[in-house]
Order: sequence, then structure tokens, then C-alpha cells
Amino acid sequence: MGRLPVIAARSERTHRTGRSERGGLFPSLALRAEGAVPSAAMADLSVSLAGVRLANPVVLAAGTCGYVREIADALPLERLGAITTKSITAESREGNAPWRIIDSPAGMLNAIGLANVGLDRFMREKLPEARGLPCKLFGSVAGHSVDEYLAVASAFDTAAEIAAVELNVSCPNTADGLQFGEHPDALRALLREVKPAVRSKPLFVKLSPNVGDIVAMATAAIDGGAQALVVANTFAAMAIDVETRAPRLSRGRGGLSGPGIHPIVVRMVYDTYHRVARDAKVPVIGLGGVSNWRDAAEFILAGASAVAMGTALFIDPRAPLRVADGLAKWVDRHGCRSVSELVGAVKDGAKAEAKA
Ligand SMILES: Cc1cc2nc3c(=O)[nH]c(=O)nc-3n(C[C@H](O)[C@H](O)[C@H](O)COP(=O)(O)O)c2cc1C
Repeated sequence: MGRLPVIAARSERTHRTGRSERGGLFPSLALRAEGAVPSAAMADLSVSLAGVRLANPVVLAAGTCGYVREIADALPLERLGAITTKSITAESREGNAPWRIIDSPAGMLNAIGLANVGLDRFMREKLPEARGLPCKLFGSVAGHSVDEYLAVASAFDTAAEIAAVELNVSCPNTADGLQFGEHPDALRALLREVKPAVRSKPLFVKLSPNVGDIVAMATAAIDGGAQALVVANTFAAMAIDVETRAPRLSRGRGGLSGPGIHPIVVRMVYDTYHRVARDAKVPVIGLGGVSNWRDAAEFILAGASAVAMGTALFIDPRAPLRVADGLAKWVDRHGCRSVSELVGAVKDGAKAEAKA
């Protein structure tokens, strides 16, 4: 199990030390990490997501940076576009038993099980920390019934500290066992109830990648009123200890994240943008395996207006700073004044489409 305890301990206690472990788990990441803390660059990195203005397109992904400010002593939050809260459910949840985070050659597997303090404590104890936050905060909502999503989304709608409500739809509905995010009709039914409750801020839907047709799910989300799409979440995965012959995660299966999933998600962002989101004028946030500015730039060229990072924070919580800095220089080098000019600007798009 080699380095396993390191990543597990770091992940569960968030990122308070801020120490870099470059090269620990992902050597390719270390080779590509550039320079120290970045300097300010010239290009305009600000982006608008359904009317929410971000200082730059770099967002921290749900569940990988605590509730609100836990990562602040490792990372100056004013250098981020937004933070996403851990997914909040109506009732508190302890989550799954250990092991619930393990390493894998190109990322990590997690089966946290939505451990969180529940809506009441989140609103009372965690959300006040967001006052004066120097970047935007997206509130992530999860649930195992339509009513649960409704309760959390309605509360978030009233919270001034939250700029947008993000639905994590990778949860099974206890009523029928189907995941909301894996069936277009289930997603439509969820949004029919939740959308009317989110009136004062944009509603984002975080799509599951565990589907045959991501465009069908994106279409269902947009039909249901999603004003931005997060593409995507972790991939259903499993790891087995060949000596004990038991699954390495207590729950048996979990979700794969990190560099290994990035090219798959680039294709999903590309398809989502070109086949539905661009015409619907619904921005896409690319999420999956971003470790450096090139990964982020790839998402932007594929059609993402913003880019989120999760697993990379466990290796180096300051990685988002280098991503923002690298993007600024990239935009400059490409003769653009704003990063928005490069959204969906991949060449030979038709060829990629034809060969799909
Ligand atoms: C430890 C861990 C906890 C996560 N918790 C959540 C969560 O609470 N809600 C959610 O929507 N996604 C959660 N995710 C998924 C991430 O937000 C992200 O979608 C996924 O990790 C892919 O991005 P990455 O490759 O940059 O990590 C979690 C991921 C990890 C690794």
C-alpha cells in the first residue's frame, strides 16, 4: 500500500499544511509543474458564468477543499475564481467506513459517501465563514430524494454568501435506486421540482460521466433550466487487493478522479459544448484531472468557460495559482485580450466530430 496513508491522511484533514508533495503520486505532474508562486499577468482572465462574474476561470471542485475556507492558509483565495462547497445533504452523514480514499496510478479512487454536517449545521456554522470571501462560492447540493435536494437548494437560494447553486446529481434516488444523473428522465423530474425553488441565483448542474450519452444528459439539464453545466464528476471504478482478494475500498466501488480521466472529460466537454451548450448559450465548467495550465487550456479550447480542480489539490494545494498564471500567459501568447476569446477555439473541430 506504499504511499496510501499519506494521501488518505491529507485528504481527510483537508489541506492545512499547504506543503507540496510534488512527484509523490503523479510523477508526470511533478515533471510538468512550473516555477514557484506566479506573478500577475496582463490578459483578462475574468469570466461570467450565467451572470456570476469570476476574477479568473479557476474553480475548486466540490468535496476537495472542505466547506468554505479550509484551504485558505495554503492558498490565497483572492487568486481563485470560485470555491465549491462540499456537497451538503439535508441530514448530516458520516459517510462510508475506511478505506474510502485510495491512490491509483493516475489519480485516486474515493467513496466518501457524502460525509457532511448536514444543512442546519452548514448554514449555522460553516456558511458564516463565507462572509468577506474574496472569491465566489458555489453551494453544492446532494440528496437521495427530490425532497432532500429541494430542502438544501431552497436554503442555498436564500443565502447571500452563495453565488450559484450546483446540483451534484451523482446520487441514487432511494425511491427507485436510479441515479438522478444517469437517466435523462430522472434528471428532468428532479429539475422540475428544484428549478422553481432556485430563483435568486443561477442553477448549475454537475453531470455524471457514467453515461453512454453525455449530450443527452446535458440536454435534459438544459431543458430543465440549468444555467451552467459542470462536466463532469468521478468515473465509477474499483480496485482489488490481490493478496487479501478484497476490494480496497470498504464500499467495494468508488469514483476515479485525477489525471487519468482528463482526456475522457476533454471529449465530454467538447461534445457537450459543440452539440448543445454553445447554441443554448449555457456555459460549461470543465472538471476532471486538471493538474496544470495546459490541462485547463485544453478544456477551454474544447468549450469550457471555466475550469475546476479537485484531485490536484491533494498533491499541491497551490496548483490553482500556477494554473491561473499559466492561463494568463497562454492567452497573451495567443494574441487574445480575454480568455473568453479562446473558449471552444479548438481547430479542426469538424474532424474531431466526424471521427467520434
Ligand atoms: C475526496 C473527494 C471528495 C469528493 N466529494 C465530492 C462532493 O462532495 N461533491 C461532488 O459533487 N463531487 C465530489 N468529488 C468529485 C470532485 O468534485 C470532482 O468532480 C472529481 O474529483 C473530478 O475532478 P478531479 O479529477 O480534478 O479531481 C469528490 C472528489 C474527491 C476526490
